[in-house]
Amino acid sequence: MFFDTHAHYDDRHFDSDRDELLPALYAAGVELIVDPGCDTPSSRAALALADKYPFVYAAVGVHPEEMPHDPCDLAVIRALAQHPKCVAIGEVGLDYYWDKEHKEAQQALFRAQIELAMDLDKPVIVHDRDAHGDCLAVVRDYPGARGVFHCFSGSAEMAEELLKLGWYLGFDGPITYKNARRALEVLELCPLERILMETDSPYLSPVPMRGRRNDSRNLVYVAEKIGEVKGMSAEEAAKLCLENGKRLFGIGDAP
Ligand code: NI
Repeated sequence: MFFDTHAHYDDRHFDSDRDELLPALYAAGVELIVDPGCDTPSSRAALALADKYPFVYAAVGVHPEEMPHDPCDLAVIRALAQHPKCVAIGEVGLDYYWDKEHKEAQQALFRAQIELAMDLDKPVIVHDRDAHGDCLAVVRDYPGARGVFHCFSGSAEMAEELLKLGWYLGFDGPITYKNARRALEVLELCPLERILMETDSPYLSPVPMRGRRNDSRNLVYVAEKIGEVKGMSAEEAAKLCLENGKRLFGIGDAP
């Protein structure tokens, strides 16, 4: 019943038990996972997991933290994106929290990967950390692009603008935190058909698992919170987000 649209099972934090954990997630009701790459090795690793596990799909891309990047990477990403289980380009975007030195280079790389996604008719998984204004400015330049702002942390005004442009918004563990006022305001205004549920595993564990390694089973806490805000059960919220994710990523028989 759960679709974790953003989880990094290629991450080294899963090296010790990845092959026990993934089947356990499926057995616990995690029906689908998208594992986004952050550079060329992790994009390859995400595809390898997608090859191994039928319920895992991959996205490929170069994360804005990977600066300066090798210009050849984009050709590699384009080639990797041909894989039948690559459902998106990501995660890509802008991160001015970790890196204020390469803003222009980050923007150029973000634009190139949006153009690649449009060229391949795939959605984009956007990482936006402390770069809300510039992220919005970039995506405004590509009205034909589609995708999700993962772990959305912008304002209600920015959310409204992205929703008008057709973007989905991803919600993670932080909506369960005490200081989540802004994210909850965004969740409240977000139409039901644009909400995605994610963990960003191994990071961002929701309350009451905060401080421990995250995994997709913890979507139950995210589902509870979404259900609470949207006036539905956790199960209904999970089902809704499953269908939304299938539609955006073109998986299965979603409408
Ligand atoms: Ni991520």
